[in-house]
Amino acid sequence: MAAAPEVEPLREGAALTAHDPDFRADPDACYDPLRAAAPLYWDAAYGRYLVTRYADARQVLRQREFSVDARQSRADSYLRRLAGTGVAPGAGEGAYEPPLVLLDDPAHRRVRQLMSKAFTPRAIEAMRPRIVAITRQQLASLAGETDIDFIERYAGPLPTRIIAEMMGLPAADCPDLKRWSDAILQGYDPERDATTQRLLRDSYLAMSGLFRDTLAARRRAPREDLISAMVRAQELRDRLSDLEIISLCTQLLVAGNVTTTDLMGNGLHALLQHPEQCLKLRARPELIAQAVDEMLRYDCPLTETGRIALTETRVGGCPVAHGDTLTVALAAANHDAAQCADPHVFDIERDATAHLAFGSGSHVCLGAPLARLEGEICLQAFIEHFPQLRAGSAPPTRRELPFFRGFVRLPVCLV
Ligand code: HEM
Repeated sequence: MAAAPEVEPLREGAALTAHDPDFRADPDACYDPLRAAAPLYWDAAYGRYLVTRYADARQVLRQREFSVDARQSRADSYLRRLAGTGVAPGAGEGAYEPPLVLLDDPAHRRVRQLMSKAFTPRAIEAMRPRIVAITRQQLASLAGETDIDFIERYAGPLPTRIIAEMMGLPAADCPDLKRWSDAILQGYDPERDATTQRLLRDSYLAMSGLFRDTLAARRRAPREDLISAMVRAQELRDRLSDLEIISLCTQLLVAGNVTTTDLMGNGLHALLQHPEQCLKLRARPELIAQAVDEMLRYDCPLTETGRIALTETRVGGCPVAHGDTLTVALAAANHDAAQCADPHVFDIERDATAHLAFGSGSHVCLGAPLARLEGEICLQAFIEHFPQLRAGSAPPTRRELPFFRGFVRLPVCLV
């Protein structure tokens, strides 16, 4: 009798995150078999279902019967593992307010409404001249260089500079803000150790302290910046509390920082790997907006997000119980052939706007217009400024942190 063919066991837990070198190298190779096998995949190691198909991912993100509040999940679930040890580093000290992305209605609706005016496409478009000016300064700082790390010298500092400017913080604070922001991100690592946790907590307290001081200063002497606008919103009926403002500022800085760096890093990497697409973009710069959406779809900076079922329900026809944790694999959904033809092909001319890189539904990324504008301006300026640009001789290095897919080093040769 012929032996049964060996079937590769499907992955679980950390092997389905950036802690695993195979996942870092090629998430599609991990997600494709899961998507093909069933609508939901039970990951026993992390106590969660993975949602990998586009239609199901969109449904879960848009349905109100799924919560973002980790406290609604079971004690052994992935989300509780993240939150329990302190994604909320100030928790327990009486000085913590959950970020917008972890609030359910009605609190979510109220805070989001108060914030959304500052992030409309028109409000963000008004920032274009400042983003262009900051980008030029960053390019000028590269004069005479031949080989650089694109992340360290360009994609890393730019988003911090831009969001700090929007908030009215001095450029001199940016190195601290970037350092704290990177440390706070470690809250998304379910495997983090006690030392990392302490650094995370100290960074959170330092960053919130800076925002507390800035808030007091703007209350005394308002300016034309986002923190002054939030202080003004305190005078409205649904006023924001000081703690809510501090939490929002922290979230804007952390959420708007590494994700935009990763859009630029992953985007440039895709262009360098597909020189014909880079040539096309140089020849037809009007394709940049489309190209940025394709970069977001093709190599999604936030690979996943979490939800908890508040009722018994079904996803893709499969039963889900009250309290179940679902990981919506955005990166997998964006490569679902049922939604996007030839999903593993990088094509800057395709209409990729239906991607889920910014999520969908009521929590859809508040900063999406800003991220898109930064991506367009900063990437286009870089490839135009360095016509001889090519991949550096050293290999790039991916970040080992779950959720946030990007490079810690992306060497490029400029001349
Ligand atoms: C390419 C860059 C970015 C990506 C890929 C990204 C991705 C996302 C995603 C997927 C969500 C939804 C999470 C969920 O539904 O659970 C989200 C929410 C959010 N993002 Fe972004 N983001 C980016 C840039 C930014 C920027 C620049 C800012 C602000 C400066 C920002 C602020 C936020 C906020 C405040 C939320 C929470 C919205 C809510 O819960 O209502 N993001 N982002």
